Amino acid sequence: MPPPLIKIMKLLVIGSGGREHALAWRLARSPRVQTVYVAPGNGGTARAEQIRNIAITDIDELIEFARKEKIAFTVVGPEAPLAAGIVDAFQAAGQKIFGPIREAAQLESSKDYAKAFMVRHGIPTAAYATFTDAADAHRYIDEQGAPIVIKADGLAAGKGVVVAETLEQAHAAIDDMLGGGSFGEAGARVVIEEFLQGEEASFIVMCDGHNVLPLATSQDHKRLLDGDKGPNTGGMGAYSPAPVVSPALHNRIMREVINPTVNGMARDGVPYTGFLYAGLMIGPGPDATRAIKVLEFNCRMGDPETQPIMMRIKSDFSETLELAIAGRLNEAEIEWDRRTALGVVMAAANYPGTPRTGDPITRLAPDTDECVIFHAGTRVEDDVLKTSGGRVLCVTALGDSIKRAQVAAYDAVARTHFDGQQYRRDIGWRALPQSEAAGSEASRQ
Ligand code: AMP
Ligand code: GLY
Repeated sequence: MPPPLIKIMKLLVIGSGGREHALAWRLARSPRVQTVYVAPGNGGTARAEQIRNIAITDIDELIEFARKEKIAFTVVGPEAPLAAGIVDAFQAAGQKIFGPIREAAQLESSKDYAKAFMVRHGIPTAAYATFTDAADAHRYIDEQGAPIVIKADGLAAGKGVVVAETLEQAHAAIDDMLGGGSFGEAGARVVIEEFLQGEEASFIVMCDGHNVLPLATSQDHKRLLDGDKGPNTGGMGAYSPAPVVSPALHNRIMREVINPTVNGMARDGVPYTGFLYAGLMIGPGPDATRAIKVLEFNCRMGDPETQPIMMRIKSDFSETLELAIAGRLNEAEIEWDRRTALGVVMAAANYPGTPRTGDPITRLAPDTDECVIFHAGTRVEDDVLKTSGGRVLCVTALGDSIKRAQVAAYDAVARTHFDGQQYRRDIGWRALPQSEAAGSEASRQ
């Protein structure tokens, strides 16, 4: 007999972004879940039904909270607590948690570790060299020529990568990272790598150490401006599924990237548990022969990719996470909504530099079954919802086609407002037939 459907579980989500709001929103809809606590959460999670913010960030205090509240399990959103060893600490305290241990999180927290791992296990990635000495790095850049890509070794919140189109830009990036110290510890070592051309896709899977369950595919938009122009950001919008990942490519990605990664980590004695995100560059050509190369690994779900992915989950995601924590992902299955979900990020003035904060959000389109506004940089102050970070909202809508999802999302964007807002008008353009992508209604709005 299936267990009775009573809302008894309490869950804990760590983080405060749009990804965590979407995760908590999805989990709160489970018939088994009573309350999802989010630590520390944001203005959106503060107002949502069955979701409660807790103002704790210290790992020991979080363990104490989980123990006291009898939290069934904890899920970690961002990379920083993973790199700080939150999973190791929870496990040592006998608390259930989903995420990689600190050593495994190095796949994201050290570009050098990730590159060496990929070379060791034959996982395709751009050719590279690692430097700590600025003069050596400058010399290497002159030898290689431009375009070329410079990456700070450690975590730099998505801002540690410079895709240099000219030698001058490349040398300036080295001066910045190895000379000026503006990246602190993260920049004391740089990885310089070959520039890759193609289309990017986000391939996110769940791992329990041995078994792998792929999530739906997605595509992010890293650049600030329409047409993929302007500086790199944390991500300005995403949609799922990503048509570029055909069934044939899906199989190749599992075979050539994901399985060797999970097997390689197990062989290295660091079995990988948690979400694993491979940022891929997919080269031109027919699917059977196009180059698939790993740009980066993240040891967490993507933000904003999570928002459309969570909109598309129809089954009980708390069950999937429970099986993952129990090492039984081979028994798990996720039922996906066949529609497309598309999320448009509304960012604050000055993002991705030093974003302006404190602007009241004066209009907010109401959530419906087909459209949800996930919050990221918001907080409630004296009962007023205000901006509090760079990426403020992710307006996410479902539609029978990418076009319909796009129109629905931009319709809600038009009914939402805060001073200084900036957003791209072309989210989803790569997935639209060319005739629709240019001059479409949505991109003129
Ligand atoms: P990463 O944090 O390593 O994913 O880099 C951030 C962004 O920089 C990626 O999403 C790409 O758009 C771009 N990028 C990184 N590495 C390369 C590369 N080798 N060739 C071209 N673009 C890259
Ligand atoms: N959206 C890219 C990331 O989460 O790293």
